[in-house]
Amino acid sequence: MGSYADLRDAHAGAVVEEVRGVLFPGFVDCHTHAVFGAPRLDDHERRALGEDYKTVAAKGGGILQSVRDVRARSESELVALLGARVRALLAHGSTTIEVKSGYGLDPANELKQLRAIRETAAAERAALVPTFLGAHEVPPEFRDRRAEYIRQVCDEMLPAVAREHLAAACDVFCEPGVFDVGETRTILTAARRHGLALKLHADELEGSGGAELAAALGALSADHLAAISDAGIRALAASETVAVLLPATMVFLGARAQAPARRLVEAGAAVALATDFNPGSSPTVGLSLVMALGVSQLGLRYAEVVSAVTVNAAAALGLATDRGQIAPGFRADLVSCGVSDWREVAYWMGEQLVTAVWTGGSACPLPAGPVSLGLHVKA
Ligand code: NIG
Ligand code: FE
Repeated sequence: MGSYADLRDAHAGAVVEEVRGVLFPGFVDCHTHAVFGAPRLDDHERRALGEDYKTVAAKGGGILQSVRDVRARSESELVALLGARVRALLAHGSTTIEVKSGYGLDPANELKQLRAIRETAAAERAALVPTFLGAHEVPPEFRDRRAEYIRQVCDEMLPAVAREHLAAACDVFCEPGVFDVGETRTILTAARRHGLALKLHADELEGSGGAELAAALGALSADHLAAISDAGIRALAASETVAVLLPATMVFLGARAQAPARRLVEAGAAVALATDFNPGSSPTVGLSLVMALGVSQLGLRYAEVVSAVTVNAAAALGLATDRGQIAPGFRADLVSCGVSDWREVAYWMGEQLVTAVWTGGSACPLPAGPVSLGLHVKA
């Protein structure tokens, strides 16, 4: 950072890159479920015809459909699929990407997903931050023995994840009908004993005090929050826990509710935005689209949505001192967008605006044409 003359003198012989457009810190996508197999096309159409979440799940859709799919795939297949999706995310400007497990729901398949993330991270230019989400749903074989599944998460999966250093954080889907606040507290307390940072899917559809629990536990983030209570807003505002909002999810689900972003900001909470990229509720890789929705659906200002995918999203991963800013001492993760006014990054809805991406100071090759996100991926 500095004047061109000073930089030229201090770094004679350095490579000079001309940027036409606006240079941003590399975007941080702090919430994705990017390890999955097939898209869930039928869920989308069933919802359009008025079926709700429970009916879709009862007809064989929902999270458990992706669980059956992921269980049937090899680790190398998942690596091939995740690699393609990570390259698409990077091409849309995301240089750091959080990736959750949660479509395995048993020790072997949760670890398979996390190992696939590790292997992909070693091969790709984007930085991947793995999160263990064994408590994404109760798997069918434990339907009538949920306490036993929670014990398996705490006593088998978490120790194995920690032993192999396979995740930076542990997340739980804290929602009535999935895991209640007491169960979530049990799992996250165990995760903390194993040295993992904490995250929650909280108050997504029905409020149940997930945001308050996130703040009380000192979680890095509480995510979704469409049904957060006033007490939850106050709790996040008084804490270091970042409110991660996922407006594309609510739009894709056809839900009317969006998280009360303005009230969160005005109360003093740190608000981040993410794609929630997953096959069920948010099949998008574009944070620029999410920023546009942040303005139009959440009532955020342009400056707030840019902070939400850089500084605040880095904080939601515990990386705020290392990335998310163009500043001395920060990783040189950069993205240039072909716009003349920086606000256009959150305006041209759904357009691909990224012209170049750098990670760790070096340019990343970008795909020449459209990238396939479906199953047409060569291993
Ligand atoms: O964040 N809320 C729970 N999990 C995902 C949905 C995952 C899926 O439907 O496969 C979400 O929206
Ligand atoms: Fe999610």
